[in-house]
Amino acid sequence: MNKIFADNILQGKVAFVTGGATGITGGVARAFAEAGAKVAITSRKEENLIAQKQFIEENGGECFAVVADVRDYAAVENAIAKTVEHFGKIDIVVNGAAGNFLVKPEELSANGFGTVVDIDTKGTFNVCRAAFEELKKTQGQILNISATLHYLATPMQIHVSAAKAGVDAITRNLSVEWGRHGIRVNGIAPGPIEDTEGMKRLLPEPLKDKLKNKIPLRRMGQIKDIEDAALFLTSDAASYITGVTLVVDGGQWLLGTSFG
Ligand code: HXC
Repeated sequence: MNKIFADNILQGKVAFVTGGATGITGGVARAFAEAGAKVAITSRKEENLIAQKQFIEENGGECFAVVADVRDYAAVENAIAKTVEHFGKIDIVVNGAAGNFLVKPEELSANGFGTVVDIDTKGTFNVCRAAFEELKKTQGQILNISATLHYLATPMQIHVSAAKAGVDAITRNLSVEWGRHGIRVNGIAPGPIEDTEGMKRLLPEPLKDKLKNKIPLRRMGQIKDIEDAALFLTSDAASYITGVTLVVDGGQWLLGTSFG
């Protein structure tokens, strides 16, 4: 139970979370449900959705799951429509679906680069665009999960760096253009978060201790660190914050600790 925040801080809200079955946004979906929100989750993988829905419901939450690939606009529109049919509205959109693998630029195919940009950047736009009319009705908000990879430069991550730079641009642009509708648009840039698919792919076990010692706060992040930031940014405590991507990385990027 998250005791940093008042109980039921998101009571009455409906959250639509892409990539909401596993990893960082899986944690965010569970934290939102614990905080009183009704949660709609999407993923490409039905088995992951089933497990997450069961977990949330067994813990007293409400969850609606729909298979969707964020690259497919029609599938996104359908997921939004089904969520509204099921829960009546959408107050919060979390864009968490992301692709990643380590590869040297000279070994990355055009399709490999495009695939990650399509999932992260175009997928984020697709979901924001498809949810706009609903968010306008609720004066809702968007939370985009980004990264810090592109603040400096991260070897073997040219595709993800470009994709997340695009996500940050979307966060800033939409905050400016949709602010007049009462829609807040923010992001979170997680640093190295333990026990996630991303970290398993990006950080070989032997490098973990080396990295930990280079992080100013001397520890890896936990999914809960991102959950807490997400609860803060989507709660009324952040009602005058928009266009911000909050870095949650223990200070890591400031030291530029990539192993190039
Ligand atoms: C080189 C690769 C590759 C690899 C895929 N490709 N994996 N190239 N190295 N390891 C290339 C393929 O060769 C192909 O190009 C193109 O990408 C599409 O691959 P597919 O497998 O057909 O695509 P798809 O099934 O759509 O899967 C896309 C995927 C996805 C991006 C590979 O499966 C994926 O990333 N899943 C991981 C999800 C994940 O870990 N999410 C967390 C992200 S963490 P060609 O030219 O051959 O057709 C994150 C945070 C980062 O983003 C920050 C951390 C600090």
